[in-house]
Amino acid sequence: RRFHVAVVGATGAVGETMLSILAERNFPIATLSLLASSRSAGGEIEFQGQKIKVQDLAEFDPSGVDIALFSAGGSVSKEYGPKFAAAGAVVIDNSSAFRYDDDVPLVVSEVNPEQVANRPRGIIANPNCSTMQMLVALAPLHRRYGIERINVATYQSVSGGGRSALEELGKQTGQLLSFQDIDPQRFPVQIAFNLIPHIDDFQDNGFTKEEMKLVWETRKILGDDSILVNPTAVRVPVFYGHSEAVAIETREKVTPEAARELLEQSPGVEVVDRREAGGYPTPVTHASGTDAVYVGRIREDISHPRGLNLWIVSDNIRKGAALNAVQLAELVAAEG
Ligand code: A2P
Repeated sequence: RRFHVAVVGATGAVGETMLSILAERNFPIATLSLLASSRSAGGEIEFQGQKIKVQDLAEFDPSGVDIALFSAGGSVSKEYGPKFAAAGAVVIDNSSAFRYDDDVPLVVSEVNPEQVANRPRGIIANPNCSTMQMLVALAPLHRRYGIERINVATYQSVSGGGRSALEELGKQTGQLLSFQDIDPQRFPVQIAFNLIPHIDDFQDNGFTKEEMKLVWETRKILGDDSILVNPTAVRVPVFYGHSEAVAIETREKVTPEAARELLEQSPGVEVVDRREAGGYPTPVTHASGTDAVYVGRIREDISHPRGLNLWIVSDNIRKGAALNAVQLAELVAAEG
C-alpha cells in the first residue's frame, strides 16, 4: 500500500530533511503535499526527480491525507494538527505542542515503538532532539541496570533553532572575522565564538523549558516517573549535531566494559570509544549528516560507586527530529 503524505513546514530546516529521508528510505508515497506559510507558497521543491509546488497550509484541504509530518512550530501544530487528525490523517508532530498530553504517545522508534498504536487523538509526538539521542543510548542501560538519576549538560547546535538560527551563526562568524559589528536577533546574545546557557523560555523553578523537556520526556518515554534528571542545556556555535555530557547513577553497578558491550548491540547506537586522540565522536567528525547516536568517553564516575559517564553525539536534525519522525511514519505504515 502507498500513502498520501503531507509535510507541514516543508521549507524549513527539519522539513527539508524529512523530504530527503523519505526519499532515501523509499517511503511508500502515493502523493506528497508540501505545505508552508503563504510566504513560500508557489515555490517548487524537487523530490525524487519531480518538482512539487509548495502550498499555503491555510488554504489546504487535508481530506485524503493518510500521514502528516508536522514541523512548523508549536502554534501551527496546535491549530492545524487536530484539523488534519479530524480529516483522518495520522499526525506525527515534531513540536512540543502535544508532547505532555496523556492521550498523545511520545515515541523514540528504538525505545518505545509499541506506543505508536496507542493514539486516541490520531496524534503521535516526536520527542525533543536532546531527549531523543540521550534515550537511544540510555534506554538499554536503564532496562538492564536501572537508572536512578541522570546528570546531563547539553552542547546544542544552532540548527535546532531552524533556518534563521543557522543563518545567524554564519552571518555573525563572517562579520566578526572581518571586524564588523554584529546585531544579535535570533539569539539573545552573540552566538559566534560564544556559547549561551539559555534555550527556550525560563520556568518558575529557574530551569529553562529546554531543560525541563529532558526531565518530562525522559520519564514519559521510559514510563518511569521515579527517574531523577538534572539538566543544563547550552547552545554552542556548531551548525549540526548536539553533544551531551551525561552522568548516570544506576541501581546495579555497570562497568564501562559491560556498558560498551551492551551499547554495541543496541539499535541506533554506534560506540566510538578509543582512548586516544580522535577516538571519540564529535558533531563534525561523526554525527553531522548521519543517522546513528554515537557514544564515547565511557568511563566510571570516580565520585560515585554506581556512576557511569558517557558522551553522546547525534545529528539533531536527523535522529533528533526528521529521521525519528519518518521512522514513526514507517511504524504507522507497517500497520497496514
Ligand atoms: P515558510 O518557509 O513559509 O516560513 P524553520 O524551523 O527552519 O524556521 O522552518 C519553519 C517551517 O515552518 C518553514 O517551512 C515555515 O514555512 C513553516 N511555517 C512557519 N510558520 C508557518 C505558518 N504560519 N503556516 C505554515 N507554515 C509555517
